[in-house]
Formats: sequence, C-alpha cells, structure tokens
Amino acid sequence: MDLAVVILAAGSGTRMKSKLPKVLHHVAGKPMVSHVVKEALKLKPSRLILVLAKESENFKEILGDDVEFVEQKEQLGTAHAVGQAQPLLKDFKGNVLILYGDTPLIQYQELEKLNEFHNKSKAAASVVTAKLDNPSGYGRIIRSDSKIVRIVEEKEASEKEKAIQEINSGMYVIDSRMLFEKIEKVQPDNNKKEYYLTDVIGILVDEGLDVGAFELGAEEVMGVNSRKELAAVSRLINQRIINEWLENGVTINDPQTVYIESDVQIEPDCVVQPHTFLKGNTKLGSDCEVGPFSQVIDSEIGDKSKITFSVIEKAKINSQSVIGPYSHIRPGTVVGENSKIGAFSEVKNSQIGARSKVPHLSYIGDAQIEEDVNIGAGSITCNYDGVKKEKTVIKKGAFIGSDTMFVAPVTIGENAVTGAGSVITDDVPANSLGLERSEQKNIADYAKRKKKKKTDSRQ
Ligand code: UD1
Ligand code: CA
Repeated sequence: MDLAVVILAAGSGTRMKSKLPKVLHHVAGKPMVSHVVKEALKLKPSRLILVLAKESENFKEILGDDVEFVEQKEQLGTAHAVGQAQPLLKDFKGNVLILYGDTPLIQYQELEKLNEFHNKSKAAASVVTAKLDNPSGYGRIIRSDSKIVRIVEEKEASEKEKAIQEINSGMYVIDSRMLFEKIEKVQPDNNKKEYYLTDVIGILVDEGLDVGAFELGAEEVMGVNSRKELAAVSRLINQRIINEWLENGVTINDPQTVYIESDVQIEPDCVVQPHTFLKGNTKLGSDCEVGPFSQVIDSEIGDKSKITFSVIEKAKINSQSVIGPYSHIRPGTVVGENSKIGAFSEVKNSQIGARSKVPHLSYIGDAQIEEDVNIGAGSITCNYDGVKKEKTVIKKGAFIGSDTMFVAPVTIGENAVTGAGSVITDDVPANSLGLERSEQKNIADYAKRKKKKKTDSRQ
C-alpha cells in the first residue's frame, strides 16, 4: 500500500507561553517536529506533508527537502487541518498516516506495526489508542459490543465517559479517498466550534464501516502542550538515548545526571561520568572518558582521550589527549595526539600539535602551536589589539617560560626558549632565548630595617 504522512503542527501552542512555534521547541537537541519527521521518513512514504499555521524559512531550513508544507491560515480544528493537505493528495491512492508534530516520542517500529495492523485488518481506519491512568484532556474511545463507535472529546464528555481510560492518541491510518470524503461531512457542532477529526471515526461507523484500535504505551503517545510536558518528554527521550548507549558498550555510571542529545555518536568502551552533557554533533572515539562535570558540544574526541570538569565546543581533540580539569576549549581548536590542556586554560581557534602541553592557567587564542611545545604556566597570547585578531606561531620543540605574553603577530622559532615573565613583541629565532624583563635589584638589609621601624613606632 502506498503511504502518505500528514503531520499536524498548526496549533497555536498557547500553553507554552512562547514566541517560538510549539513544535520548534527542542527535545534532545532538536525541534520536536524533527523527531516525528525523522521517524516518519523511515517508513519511506511517497509524500510527507506538514500542516503549519504559517510557512517559514525556519521550517524549511530545519526539515529540508523531504517535507512538503501546507498552510492552515485559521486554526479551525484537526479535521480542517488535515483537509488542507487534500489539494496535494488529490491524485494519491493509498493510506494516509496522520501524526502530530508535538508527539515526539513516537518511534518508527511502532508506526510500522501500525501500518501492518491496518493493512491486515479490513477496517476503514485504525486509531492509535492508549490506556492512561489519568486520561484527562484526551478524547475518549467509546465502544459498543467491544467495537469502537466514536470518539468523544473531554469538553463534550459526560461524567461517565470521562471515566473511560482508553484515549485517542490523535494518530490514525486511513484510506485517503475515505478520509477526504468524510472530512467534508464534519460539522463544527461542538463546544469549541471546531471541525474535529475525531468525528470522521463516528461518521465511518455510522455508515457501517469498521474502525480498528491499535494500542500503544502511554509514553509513545505522549504529547507536549506545556513546558512541564516538554520537560517530561525530554527526560523520557534522554532515558531512551542513554539506554541505547548502555546496550551498545558505553559505561554511564550515573544515568540520572547525564544528558545525551540524539545526534551524538559514541564508540564502545567509552565511560561517561556523572554530570556530563554531550550535545549536538558530538563524536566520542573508543575508550574515552568524559566527565565528571563536563560539557561537549559539536566536537570530536579521539580514542583514549580524557576530559574532566571541562567545556569543549566545536573543537577536535585527537587521541590520547588529556583535557582539564577546568579547561575551556572553544570553537576552531584542534588538539593533537598525546597533548594536554590543563587546569584553567582557555584555548580558542588554535592548533595544538602532538605532544604539546598547555598545562596551567593560560589563554591561547588564534595560535598555531607545533609539536612538542611546552607552554609555561600563566602564558597568554595577546591576540586582539581592540581592532583585529592576530596570530601567534610557536614552532616545534619551543619551551615557553611561565607568564610569557605573546603580543601577536609574533613567531617563536623551533626549539627557541622564552624567559619567564617576558613580553614578547618581536619574533624569536630558532634555538634562541627571547628574554624581556628588567634586571633584578637586591636591596641589602631591607627587611631588617623595616622590622625595626615597626617596633620603634609601637613604643
Ligand atoms: C486532539 C484530539 C483528541 C486527542 C488528542 C491527543 C481532536 C478533535 N481531538 O485533541 O481526541 O486525544 O488530540 O493529543 O482531534 N492542529 C492543527 N490545526 C488546528 C488544530 C490543531 O494543526 O486547527 C494540530 C496541533 O498543532 C496539534 C494537533 O493538531 O499538533 C492536535 O491539536 P490539539 O488542539 O492539541 O488537540 P487536542 O485538543 O489535544
Ligand atoms: Ca494536544
């Protein structure tokens, strides 16, 4: 059976109290609608249509070319929303799968089972249902002789109907011709004066057709209407992601405090320590250890590297390197193999060669540091003169004395040395010592005289 997917996302989402359309709020690092689209695409539908209140570049950028958009200019209800897709599907013959953009926990495997279920049954439509401990807010499934006869919305439900725990998830599979034919018959004769898609079910049954129920777990059908529900859904997705990595050879000691977004990649035998956040397009090589208390965003960490109490963003750390504790690695940084960025060091847009070390309290910005360089404690690249950023080059094997200031642009030659406390404004040739500080003066008996002065003044 040919399949078209229609995802509803035109609702105003007022309970989110946000400028952002509800379905663009992030869950596991991506807009919630992206999760639904990603799962739906795995079904390889011939059309995937998203119903929006207003088309925007935002949506096109996020969802790409796989999705077609239709606008529902006025939000007149779910039946009206699906109706907007009719012009795009007028020549389509097959099943339509209706999903919501604000139900991001739905998974491909379940959708595939739903399709199979529907195709095997002779029903005109299949409704995805769930049994909830607290069904309030949802449409209830009304059965007679165990068959679905209609769906009643909370607003129209009697007390007896409100006690029904079987709810409508809002997801359905239905033959396209049947769907649009029945939508035309839906009237807004309810408390909200909306065209309810749920009425299509009652219409089918009234016409003598069968409607099937496909039951899913409470999690899969969980929708987001408020920030509280957004938080609950985020937590569930995070648990799912963590369980997947645990099954794939990653050690996560304290899953409650670890947050991993959906596009992160982790090789086996990595250890993710407590209070660690892995975000965006992050990749961890094998046998890495990240955390405790670390955040890695859009970065690549090589095999056997170790990150503790540090923040890394848009950077690449090659294998067997050590970062932290308390390092800040900023965008554009590449750290070579077997290197070390240590306590309270910040590195921005710089290359650090293999086996080089920035072990303590330094700022390295816009620098190219070659292999086997040692940067003494407290050294700083003065890369910004208030107008433009300049580059510091430190060649192979150089040994930088503590508290060296590099007033960029400046180049330190191969195996050169800088004296502690030097303000380096000129290039240092290879193998030379660059030393810039005034000569030391020692004043004899200074301390003794000072002490005497103090005791005298007390008498
Ligand atoms: C709907 C169902 C209800 C079900 C519940 C599950 C109807 C009448 N009711 O209720 O039976 O239990 O979902 O979550 O269908 N939307 C549009 N255009 C509109 C109205 C809604 O695109 O004019 C979209 C929303 O963005 C959302 C979805 O449709 O993705 C559901 O809309 P919502 O208003 O949240 O429906 P509920 O009242 O929750
Ligand atoms: Ca809803």
